[in-house]
Amino acid sequence: MNFTTSDKISVQKIEKSRINEVDFDNLTFGKDFSDHMFECDYINGEWVHPTIRPYGPLTISPAAKVFHYGQAVFEGMKAYKDANGKVFLFRPDQNHARINKSAKRMAIPEFPKDIFFEALHKLIDLDRDWVKPGNGNSLYIRPFVMATQEGVSASPSDQYKFMILLSPVNAYYTGDVKVVVAEEYSRSANGGVGAAKAAGNYGAQFYPTNLAREKGFQQVIWTDANEHKYLEEAGTMNVFFRINDTLYTAPTSDRILDGITRKSVIALAKKDNIPVEERPILVSEIVEASKNGTLKEIFGAGTAAVISPVSTFNYKDVTYELPPTAGGYSTKFKKELTDIQYNISEDPFGWRY
Ligand code: COI
Repeated sequence: MNFTTSDKISVQKIEKSRINEVDFDNLTFGKDFSDHMFECDYINGEWVHPTIRPYGPLTISPAAKVFHYGQAVFEGMKAYKDANGKVFLFRPDQNHARINKSAKRMAIPEFPKDIFFEALHKLIDLDRDWVKPGNGNSLYIRPFVMATQEGVSASPSDQYKFMILLSPVNAYYTGDVKVVVAEEYSRSANGGVGAAKAAGNYGAQFYPTNLAREKGFQQVIWTDANEHKYLEEAGTMNVFFRINDTLYTAPTSDRILDGITRKSVIALAKKDNIPVEERPILVSEIVEASKNGTLKEIFGAGTAAVISPVSTFNYKDVTYELPPTAGGYSTKFKKELTDIQYNISEDPFGWRY
């Protein structure tokens, strides 16, 4: 696209920071937002007016297509601060590639890489005080694109708004996660949008996840839509299963998100000579392994969730307990991953940015 330099981004700074109004020791995930946000509009076939301005409401037509047809995609990233106050991102090139992959699936124009990175640089630099040091603290970065054309004809919008918001966070899940294996509802189907970070993909999970919550489970592990026989992913994270010493996770497909934490865990496992298999996993295998004592761990992997150990899973109204996770793979991968993210260890993969 047309612009390539940072001076194309116009910056309007806030008059007074809101940072002192935020209790950084008691954050609710994704509830507080930093002082500034980035926005850029797609008009007449071009991304124009890249702007950083104070975080605040937008004026959008109630007939904008995003409200009627859910034409919107998003990403989840984090900024981390090390003990010397330097701020890092983790594999941001992957997020840029993925938002464009999601965009393509939703008939949304791609967003240029140079502006994506310039916007991240400028925005995070401006709000760098919002990135708190210390393991677990980070600034969650939410890039997203929505269809802004006014009109309710069911066709792709010809106008879009790309934005980036920043939200100081700590843990997404506090403690171990209890999950239920899906038997009735589905998250995605062959040829669908499961692999895209499409907004409606997440909204569609709220109702079945609420049903799970009422029974005391935080998350659903989704199964294949055809037969509910194979384990796929949980709503906010990919899922790993450890049977004996081998790690298993479902292969990516058009139904499963190509998670950046997922692929990083696989790379760490391979580096550590841990056997890892990306293959379809039957629910019955996990149930059997739990019964015979070979199921050692289940954990989720995602940007928001980081590595979240699962303490119990429920299938057909039977609850199966996992052994304690201390000293297991989830502890090990979480440490290896966060040591790279917080600039504590070497970064043999070149993931830190
Ligand atoms: C992320 O990990 O960034 C996600 O997209 C999960 C989000 C829905 C909270």
